Amino acid sequence: MRTLDDLDVKGRRVLVRADLNVPLDGETITDDGRIRASVPTIKALAGRGAKVVVCAHLGRPKGQVNPKYSLRPVAARLGELLGQDVAFATDVVGDSARATVEALQDGQVALLENLRFEPGEDSKDDAARGAFAEQLAGLAELYVGDGFGAVHRKHASVYDVPKILPHAAGGLIVAEVEVLRKLTEQPERPYVVVLGGAKVSDKLGVIANLLTKVDRLLIGGGMAYTFLKAQGHEVGRSLLQEDQLDQVRGFLSEAAERGVELVLPVDVLAATEFAADAEHETVEATAIPADREGLDIGPKTRELFAAKLADAKTVFWNGPMGVFEFDAFSGGTRAVAEALIASGAFTVVGGGDSAAAVRGLGLPEDGFSHISTGGGASLEYLEGKTLPGLAALEE
Ligand code: 3PG
Ligand code: MG
Repeated sequence: MRTLDDLDVKGRRVLVRADLNVPLDGETITDDGRIRASVPTIKALAGRGAKVVVCAHLGRPKGQVNPKYSLRPVAARLGELLGQDVAFATDVVGDSARATVEALQDGQVALLENLRFEPGEDSKDDAARGAFAEQLAGLAELYVGDGFGAVHRKHASVYDVPKILPHAAGGLIVAEVEVLRKLTEQPERPYVVVLGGAKVSDKLGVIANLLTKVDRLLIGGGMAYTFLKAQGHEVGRSLLQEDQLDQVRGFLSEAAERGVELVLPVDVLAATEFAADAEHETVEATAIPADREGLDIGPKTRELFAAKLADAKTVFWNGPMGVFEFDAFSGGTRAVAEALIASGAFTVVGGGDSAAAVRGLGLPEDGFSHISTGGGASLEYLEGKTLPGLAALEE
């Protein structure tokens, strides 16, 4: 993969695909981790005298202009972090984008409006995507792929543009890939993976692959209830994916055959409803009352998971252990994060919710070896899939 050092960028228009998909509350950015992670590459390019044209998506507006998903607040925050103005184009490849790019001086930075306001960006039709890619590529002379969180998407700005323009990988992508490669090639053992989050169905591929690689797999969060059910336990009104039960039974027996320790919750916080102030009690994971739903792992499970992490040499963690957005149900996620920090292992936090949880709970980011900006992207990498955005940069 070519890197920034292989490109002569001075005085040239460089299109940078970043992942600036941050959580917003109205127009307030609630976690700017992805913006901060994008800064070094943009800064390096501007510092070398490039005219930097940043493009990114926000949410899933499905090809429609929708002010709710405007990147304008992100442009402001990016400017603050860069310590220089970021010109904002109010469209993606229209009059505003062209005029904004045209006005850039060497070392200046612009951000285009949300890529996904254009139906071509995420179209499944190669021709439609290709046509939009041509328009986007027309704004610049060089391309830098740095949106690690979106490299698993076969989208125009990720996959098609680097086929048109001379390209290189930005520093964030290089750093992310280096870490994930460490996890896939001879990780130091014990290698422990902690998975959480709501849906088993999102994690099938990665679980299947990890069962051939890890020493222990700890499962918490909403997806744990499908595992408990597959073992024959009642889970009350907890999250359950009935249609995944067979698959999960297969995982349980494969883990046993391979000698992989698959560790499930032994107790949970069972609540009367899905609410921040829901009445709740700790119950055995094998005895969840019919009218209750599990919203976090319980204290015995926190201890168990911490013990299973204590001697680890390599840890990958993706997905919260409970509804960490609600204070009362954030204890499990916090306990796992603290156990990672205490382990002294090479620890990688994979993306999205878990990274936001770490920061939201006020835990020190430097307590972890790496906090990935990619959730889906890092999971698909570990699954062994070819990621379109990385493949395109390698060509
Ligand atoms: C993410 O938030 O996971 C990335 O920015 C990709 O977004 P997407 O899942 O909407 O494609
Ligand atoms: Mg996602």
